Amino acid sequence: MAKRNIILCGFMGSGKSTIGGLLAKKMGMSFIDLDRYIEKQENRTISRIFEESGEAYFREKEREASVTLGRKQGLVVAAGGGTLTFEENVKAFRENGRIVLLSITPEAVALRLKNDTTRPLLAVPDKLGAIKELFEKRLPLYEKAADIIVDADQSPMQVCAQIMSELH
Ligand code: S3P
Repeated sequence: MAKRNIILCGFMGSGKSTIGGLLAKKMGMSFIDLDRYIEKQENRTISRIFEESGEAYFREKEREASVTLGRKQGLVVAAGGGTLTFEENVKAFRENGRIVLLSITPEAVALRLKNDTTRPLLAVPDKLGAIKELFEKRLPLYEKAADIIVDADQSPMQVCAQIMSELH
């Protein structure tokens, strides 16, 4: 029987890509990082897409990718931090998959992304302020989208093990 997709949802820095790769290996599924998928299609980085074409353009590419990947099977998908705040993307992924929210605090995100320069939405002087503001808007949407919620403030192996036991 074909395996339903597993979609990892959560804020930037919650570990979606690391955990996604590990989880896919453990479960014998294929791993796709949504941002890398879009970058490959566009042949430029997320930062350049935002800079040259704007956020709305990126969101459109993200929507198209969600529809395409949502139709496939046997995938572990690391979504972008904004992907599942859009109802249509949630719908596209829900059809054939389960959504796992990696839960983390704004403070932990700020610490993890202290030296990161690849997230255009956090390229501001007050990073923690920007994170907190986005968190407030996004958390209820993430929680609404999620089938299960896992504490991401553990080792990747522990997070993986918890996802596997809860998805059974
Ligand atoms: C975004 C998160 C990023 C990337 C883009 C926008 C967001 O993905 O899709 O920079 O809106 O939170 P990660 O969560 O993988 O960093």
